[in-house]
Formats: sequence, C-alpha cells, structure tokens
Amino acid sequence: MTTHTTNPAKQEEFAGRMVQVLNDACLGHLCSLGHRARLFDTMAGLPPSTSDQIAVTTGLDERYVREWLGGMTVGGIVEYTPEDGTYRLPPEHAASLTRAAGPDNLASFMQDLALIGIVEDEVFQAFREGGGVPYSSYPRFQELQAEETARVYDAALIDAVIPLAPGLTERLREGIDSLDIGTGQGHAVNLLAKAFPNSRFRGVDISETGIAAARREAEGLGLQNVRFDVSDTAEVSGDYDLITAFDVIHDLARPAQVLASVAAALRDNGTFLMGDIDASSKLEENLDHPLGPALYTFSVFYCMTVSLGEGGAGLGTVWGRQTAQRMLAEVGFDDVTVRQVDGDILNVYYVARKKR
Ligand SMILES: C[S@@+](CC[C@H](N)C(=O)[O-])C[C@H]1O[C@@H](n2cnc3c(N)ncnc32)[C@H](O)[C@@H]1O
Repeated sequence: MTTHTTNPAKQEEFAGRMVQVLNDACLGHLCSLGHRARLFDTMAGLPPSTSDQIAVTTGLDERYVREWLGGMTVGGIVEYTPEDGTYRLPPEHAASLTRAAGPDNLASFMQDLALIGIVEDEVFQAFREGGGVPYSSYPRFQELQAEETARVYDAALIDAVIPLAPGLTERLREGIDSLDIGTGQGHAVNLLAKAFPNSRFRGVDISETGIAAARREAEGLGLQNVRFDVSDTAEVSGDYDLITAFDVIHDLARPAQVLASVAAALRDNGTFLMGDIDASSKLEENLDHPLGPALYTFSVFYCMTVSLGEGGAGLGTVWGRQTAQRMLAEVGFDDVTVRQVDGDILNVYYVARKKR
C-alpha cells in the first residue's frame, strides 16, 4: 500500500500561492476596467486626489470609482493616504498601465480576461465533448486584438520588424506586391501602405468586422495602394514578393495547407515574414517563460479552441519555434531566420525564403 506523506510547510506555502492567484486574477479584471474607463490614464496626470476628484475628472460614478480604488490600493497598484483620503498612481506603476506607455501598457491585455470568461461554458463543453468554439462567440475580439497589436506596429513595424529581412525596406521603397493574411483590422497593412507608397498591399481576413475596420482606416488615410478582402487564407493564391502573417498561423484550422499556399504564391526571391508567439515547442523549456501561464490560458480559451472549432489542427498558442521551423521547412522554406524586436514581448519573427 502506498502511503502519502504531506509536507505541511509545502502545503501551506502552496495554499498561500493559490490565494495570491485568486487575488491577482481579480486585480486583472479591475485593471481591465481601469484601462477601459481611462482611470489609469487620468490618475497618471493628477496629483494625489480623492475619489470625488477622480470621479469628476473621469466623468465616472464616484461610488464605483471608490470601490475600484479600494481594490487597487489593497492590490498594491495605487497608493492611499488615509489622512486626507487621497489616492495616487505612482509614475513607476503608470509606466505599465497607461495608454501613454504604448507597447508597455499591460492593462490593455487584461481586457482579454473578461473576453475569455464569456466563452467558459462553451470551452467547458468542448473539454467533455471535443470540438471547439466559433469565432462568433468572441464579441470585441477584433477590437481588442487590434488595440493590442497596433501599439507594437506603431512603435516597431516600419523601423524594426521590416528591416529584419535584409533588403526588404529598399524593395518596398522601390515597389513590390505584398499580402497580409489574417490581417484583422489591417492596421499593419495600412502602416506599410502609408510608409511605402510605391508598393501595392492587400490584406485578407475571414472577419467582416475586421475588414470593414481596415477599409475605414485606409479610407481615412486616403491610401490608394491598399485593398482589403474578406477571404479565407485557405484560398491564398497569386504572385507576391512579400507575404506577412502576424499572430495568425497557429490559430488556423489548416496551417500546413496555408503555409504551402503561401510558399506557392511567392515570387522568386520573395519573403514570408511570420510574426508568432515566442515560446518553445517543449513544455519543459517554457517553465520560466514570463508569460507562460497567460499563453496556455489564451490557447485553451481562444487560439487552440477556435481552430478545433473548425475541425482544425489546434496547434495552440504555444506551438513554438521548433514546430514552426519544421512546418516552414516542410513547405520548402529552406532559409529561415528567427529574430526578435525590442518592445514586442510576445512575438518572434520568422524571415522565411526559398533558395531557388
Ligand atoms: C490573432 S488575430 C491577428 C490579427 C492581426 N494579424 C493582428 O496582428 O492584429 C488572427 C486573425 O486571423 C483571422 N483568421 C483566422 N482564420 C482565418 C482564415 N481561415 N482565413 C482568414 N483569416 C483567418 C482571424 O479572423 C483573426 O483576425
């Protein structure tokens, strides 16, 4: 008979950690509200202020603001002075919580927590019955995704990501044909089209709301060299010098087929630039990943599950570098470099070419 001995100190320590998990998960939801209600942005510009002053400045209901401030205070995010009842957001904290922080704004990411909560019943059902969850079950997905990635593209796409491919900036300046698959709200494509007026850009996505937003932005910018289509990546064809896929391939139902179509649609000396999650394909190598739990959570609640919902491969968010490189090699990309850019905490970039 096996006897199970427990180590009381280990048990107590773990219980404490679980309490912290509960508290931090709750704080994540409060941070999401703080971002949406612009409470962090406002407080960053205020001297120590009362809940009344913060409510008036933000145009919010004081009772809600005060309760939110309570959570923020006991959670160590906001500082409180009981003598005069004022709250302060230290600049060191604002640096991770405000829109002004750009790619460093982690409060924006917290909005995903509420989004994935909406589908928990459907995900739970899939645990028991298999299958997945359709894209239509995720309201606000396109909006949140665009908000999260636009900050990175604004900061780094033209000056840091594109130069990862040797000579690409120069070719874009001269004029080439470029396609972005799974473009979402198309912000990356619009930035490229604006920066490189001699090149021709196309973005495709299955999301009608995503493509509608992409077209609106292009129109607002008066861009003549960009076109957006509602289209399935499974139908990628044509002749392109550059194909990009940002945070898309692991979500797809048929990633291998799409990668093969991408390889076939590239002209000689064409480049496939694939931004995807920075992780290892081996679980044991992700133990110290700073975003490890978040990545597996997003996978269970979205990336793996939307793919399985279409009867797909279900690669998952953490498909990792090794699997990505193997799949690129399998469709004929025999020259692949993997690079990172400062300020993008989520992704690595695969610069893939075929030697001909
Ligand atoms: C995680 S989002 C990335 C969006 C955008 N590239 C960005 O960086 O913000 C993945 C996108 O792939 C799109 N997508 C998923 N499956 C697709 C398919 N089969 N064909 C075209 N787009 C697809 C989704 O609608 C979604 O907009």
